[in-house]
Amino acid sequence: MEMILFIGGQAAGKSTFYQQHFRDTHLRINLDMLRTRHREAILLEACLRMKQPFVVDNTNPTPEDRQRYIPLARAAGFRVVGYYFAIRLEIALRRNARREGRQLIPEKGVLATYRRLQRPAWSEGFDALHDVRPVGGQRFIVEVWRDEL
Ligand SMILES: Nc1ncnc2c1ncn2[C@@H]1O[C@H](COP(=O)(O)OP(=O)(O)OP(=O)(O)O)[C@@H](O)[C@H]1O
Ligand SMILES: [Mg+2]
Repeated sequence: MEMILFIGGQAAGKSTFYQQHFRDTHLRINLDMLRTRHREAILLEACLRMKQPFVVDNTNPTPEDRQRYIPLARAAGFRVVGYYFAIRLEIALRRNARREGRQLIPEKGVLATYRRLQRPAWSEGFDALHDVRPVGGQRFIVEVWRDEL
């Protein structure tokens, strides 16, 4: 059993990466789709009870955001794996500006998330951590985790 936690601002490529790597194996928990924390909590609990691998495809910028999931997952016997999406703010803003409808986030919101974004630490309860670098053309490089950048 495995919970994968994505960490990264808007338009960093999280949902694209999910579709490429986890679509067939991990259920996707995404607040934009579920709309409320209450509905998210129901699905989270269902996954834990069913022992269903899943990805939390939210921005999860701070340790506090991540603690919403990590202790519950660990208590249920899940391995906790983090993927940190590092992308420059100007690139995120440019990609966001090209999106349409509900996907297009007000620039203020993107800025606020990138300002709060904190690199994850082992002490939060991760069993594995990865750096993901979007390299254009819908491609990503997954790098070995470095504690200091
Ligand atoms: N590696 C990449 N190279 C170039 N463009 C990319 C890459 N990954 C994603 N994109 C583009 O960037 C935009 C944002 O991607 P995506 O929707 O996956 O981001 P997200 O992190 O899920 O954002 P949000 O947090 O707002 O849901 C999309 O238009 C997508 O096509
Ligand atoms: Mg997304």
